[in-house]
Amino acid sequence: MNNLQNKIGNHRVDELAKCYQTPTFFYETETIKERIKDVARADVIRYAQKACSNIAILKLVQQQGVKVDAVSAGEIFRAVTAGFQTGDGKSDIVYTADIFDDDAISLIKKYQIPVNVGSPDMLGQLGTFAPGSKVTLRINPGFGHGHSEKVNTGGDLSKHGIWYKDIEECLSLAKNAGLTVHGLHMHIGSGSDFKHLSKVCEAMVTHAKKVGPSLEVISAGGGLPIPYQKDKPRIDLNAYFDLWDKTKADIAAAIKHDVQLEIEPGRYLVAESCTLLTQICSIKRMEENLFYLVNAGFDTLIRPAMYGAYHEISISPANTSECKEMQDVIVGGPLCESCDVFTQQEGGFVSNRLLPKAQVGDYLLIHDAGAYGAAMSSNYNSKRLAAEVLLTCDSHHLIRKRQTMEDLIKNEQIPDFLK
Ligand code: LLP
Repeated sequence: MNNLQNKIGNHRVDELAKCYQTPTFFYETETIKERIKDVARADVIRYAQKACSNIAILKLVQQQGVKVDAVSAGEIFRAVTAGFQTGDGKSDIVYTADIFDDDAISLIKKYQIPVNVGSPDMLGQLGTFAPGSKVTLRINPGFGHGHSEKVNTGGDLSKHGIWYKDIEECLSLAKNAGLTVHGLHMHIGSGSDFKHLSKVCEAMVTHAKKVGPSLEVISAGGGLPIPYQKDKPRIDLNAYFDLWDKTKADIAAAIKHDVQLEIEPGRYLVAESCTLLTQICSIKRMEENLFYLVNAGFDTLIRPAMYGAYHEISISPANTSECKEMQDVIVGGPLCESCDVFTQQEGGFVSNRLLPKAQVGDYLLIHDAGAYGAAMSSNYNSKRLAAEVLLTCDSHHLIRKRQTMEDLIKNEQIPDFLK
């Protein structure tokens, strides 16, 4: 990429900015549909909505035949609102977590949501409020891997899942609680690589044999990576599904019937669909370092500050689209905190990025912001949550209004003794 970009999809950046102001997340419908088609070899695609849980995005994936994962009562509520089916043993929603809280229990009961259990304690608890139900065990296979240590969900330092050595004990716990173990699930981390993801296959066969004939579903979890750096290759999905086909065949041979393969991607389905549009508000120099300061910070997109995550950046000049000279810059946001920098590496090391020369007022586009962008945004520094817009080839639709100032304080109050 040449780091100059005047369009998002078919739409001109300046016109979108005029219509919705900045910062705003723009999602492209077609990209989400394409990514769903990429993984169609799975028997069930279960979207990990934590990546982006706007109800319009949920509706879009639901219309493509995708099912959904929910990790909280709020996510169950969103999925139900978006129209995912529940009840009658045919729920499109699965609750995956390491604990139950009161809110979750009440919605699981209300909508008869099946559960993917991540701790032994949950088995006895589920047995009391949903006796007779089918359950999936989330196994921590003893290893994990992710794009950052912070998103590695396997191994003995991870709080996630049931420790693989405890499976037999959990099978008895489930039996005693009147539950049928019909699924096994393993999610070893996010943005992992093919080598580690394929290790999950071996572990799945080993543990599937322990569950035996009641097993109907295996879930490979999420974690499929996307190339955040445009010169990096895409994951070889054919090789990935070939391995899973073999795994299914090995399990079928052992338990004497077929099982279904579920995958649970979050970022793979939505990350690349979205551009975060910001505007450059100040350009300043500190000795040799030149800073572009934009009107979105880690309140809007926390991934660089939290993981040192890399996002491609490009510039859309406000007044001219002629090719610009490049220069090394640091891109920062508006927050009163020094880690509010989009160009940084893990550990907080600020780095330069070669970008076109720009002026105050030009637009700065942060790419691949669809997963864990809006979903992880906050009101830190009392910044308002950004707007979200869904683009089709020839239209654009507001799917979340920018917060108002009143929204910021609407649940707060000054007690009488202070008045
Ligand atoms: N399934 C389970 C049980 C998970 O915990 C996750 C992510 C996924 C599926 C989806 O993973 P994905 O396909 O999106 O990698 N905030 C971090 C990612 C943390 C994800 C937590 N769990 C980031 O911005 O990279």
